[in-house]
Amino acid sequence: MCGIIGYIGKKRAAPILFDSLKKLEYRGYDSVGIASINGDAEIEIKKGAGRIEAVNERMNFLSVNGSIGIGHTRWATHGGVEDKNAHPFLSCNGRFALVHNGILENYLELKEDLVKKGHTFTSDTDTEILVHLVEEEVKNNGEKDLVKIISDLTKIAKGAYTFLLLDAKDHIIYAFRKDSPIIIGIGEDELFASSDITSFLEHTNKVIILENNQLAVLKEKYTIYDTQTGKEVKQKITTIDWTTEQASKTGFPHFMLKEIFEEVEISKHSLEQDSLKLNGMIEVLSKAKKVFFLGSGTSFRACLLASIYFAKIAKKHFMPILGSEYKTYQNLVDKDTVIFAISQSGETADVLQGITLAKAKGARVVSLINVIGSTIMRESDQYLTLNSGPEIAVASTKAFISQVLILTLLAFGVADRLKEGREHLYEVVRKLESIMNQSDSIAMLSKDVLNKNDLYLIGRGVSFPIAMEGELKIKEIAYIHADALAGGELKHHTLALIEPGVTCIALVPNDDTKDDMINNIMQIKARGGEIIGISSEHLELFDHYIPIPKVHLEPLLMIPVLQLISYYLSVIRGNDPDFPRNLAKSVTVL
Ligand code: AGP
Ligand code: GLU
Repeated sequence: MCGIIGYIGKKRAAPILFDSLKKLEYRGYDSVGIASINGDAEIEIKKGAGRIEAVNERMNFLSVNGSIGIGHTRWATHGGVEDKNAHPFLSCNGRFALVHNGILENYLELKEDLVKKGHTFTSDTDTEILVHLVEEEVKNNGEKDLVKIISDLTKIAKGAYTFLLLDAKDHIIYAFRKDSPIIIGIGEDELFASSDITSFLEHTNKVIILENNQLAVLKEKYTIYDTQTGKEVKQKITTIDWTTEQASKTGFPHFMLKEIFEEVEISKHSLEQDSLKLNGMIEVLSKAKKVFFLGSGTSFRACLLASIYFAKIAKKHFMPILGSEYKTYQNLVDKDTVIFAISQSGETADVLQGITLAKAKGARVVSLINVIGSTIMRESDQYLTLNSGPEIAVASTKAFISQVLILTLLAFGVADRLKEGREHLYEVVRKLESIMNQSDSIAMLSKDVLNKNDLYLIGRGVSFPIAMEGELKIKEIAYIHADALAGGELKHHTLALIEPGVTCIALVPNDDTKDDMINNIMQIKARGGEIIGISSEHLELFDHYIPIPKVHLEPLLMIPVLQLISYYLSVIRGNDPDFPRNLAKSVTVL
């Protein structure tokens, strides 16, 4: 949620900020703005509510001069989606501009105090108090050390706040991290600060990932301070191996479609885990007394699928818990517990809250994440990476297949059948391309048969969480009501809704669920329902058939089929699949 970018260098800041903001769009936002120090050492701000292109038409971002500036995509938490609430905000004297990601819990009392001291506010946001606080403290302390002033201020303001502060007097950008990520990019004669590496990846892949409570001072050079001790800290520079092609559409109409097609390649990387780390994880899971998987949304569906495979393959009872429901299970967590957090972004607030609470009870935290340096990765005692490359579309696709492959590999590992697991999983990976080759016929079927206001998906065993993931995707990007259920549940409720004209997607793998699934399909057909069968075998019962290759772990090949269905339904309905309404890529609020 929300994106932050700062630039300081020799080039014009506005075009760089504008481009970076476009790359941050995927995170989800409702307003956008930039601030830059123009030739007269004055801060010029252009901002407004709406999508970047639309606000740019009104404001002309590129007309802003100067080679040092900050930009922001806002995802409103405090104050409506209005021009006046878009970031950046200016101090009364015009010296400072600020953009912020997060929530300031005690902003009302701080605001009241600042108003009494004569500060004028222009917005309803919590953010704006920060820039006035800095101004007030500078006024009270004379021209003293700004690092000290900002460090002190971070002890007064409560909540989650990562911000960039632009100082027009000293031509400095201050970047402070508390909870949401901020990454410093180190280019030649230029520095960047952003919520996401991909926003400046075309300029540099050398980065420093700030830790919580660190403050980076960016001028010609950078210095990093620990605001708790006031001391300078040396941080390691990391070289990121993501490519700019991975972060651009490269000819595909949408990131989502590109990322689904990328599954063919990235799945191999996902299975190429460092053997030390993989074995370390297998050992922890094998020895643990209790394991809870923790995840939200699509990542939770991966948790659910993992719990089924761990039961079937490794005979282990590992429980899946929704990130947001962690507190319900707190009493079960102790020092003998392993919390296995699954998160693409590594920033999901619901999951992070669970991790914090579990750690306080002495639990061990391990994780599976995609974004290197993310908060969940840092909070974990050990972790594995998905190796999926950057996932830009809000809908998680390639990350989901990577999660599923790695979790299944771990289940085989815990069962001491790693070699066999690898063989089965590589068999799936080799067949992924044949699913992509069917994308035209899946598009056609989506248009002619599946473009309904209600859809049902049924599966059993491991196909049930896959059906649930299909349901999630169809709702998320096609805005179609969908309902996934375990086939056996039909007779307990949803059969009441089946009548002629009702369409049901049935996942019928060639495994121990097949015969029961056929029964369930008969129950639907007996009531006039229409069946779209996904299977390696063309059953007569199917009204329409989507073939998948015959492999040992067949349900996994149904994942891209359902992703493609949701993608095409979204496009057919005129939606933008990359930016579903009201949703964000990185959900950093509870
Ligand atoms: C998936 O398509 C969704 N955008 C969403 O459910 C997502 O999976 C969820 O917010 C969890 O994200 P994470 O994997 O980054 O933790
Ligand atoms: N709380 C701030 C606001 O509502 C920042 C939200 C964000 O992170 O974009 O403006």
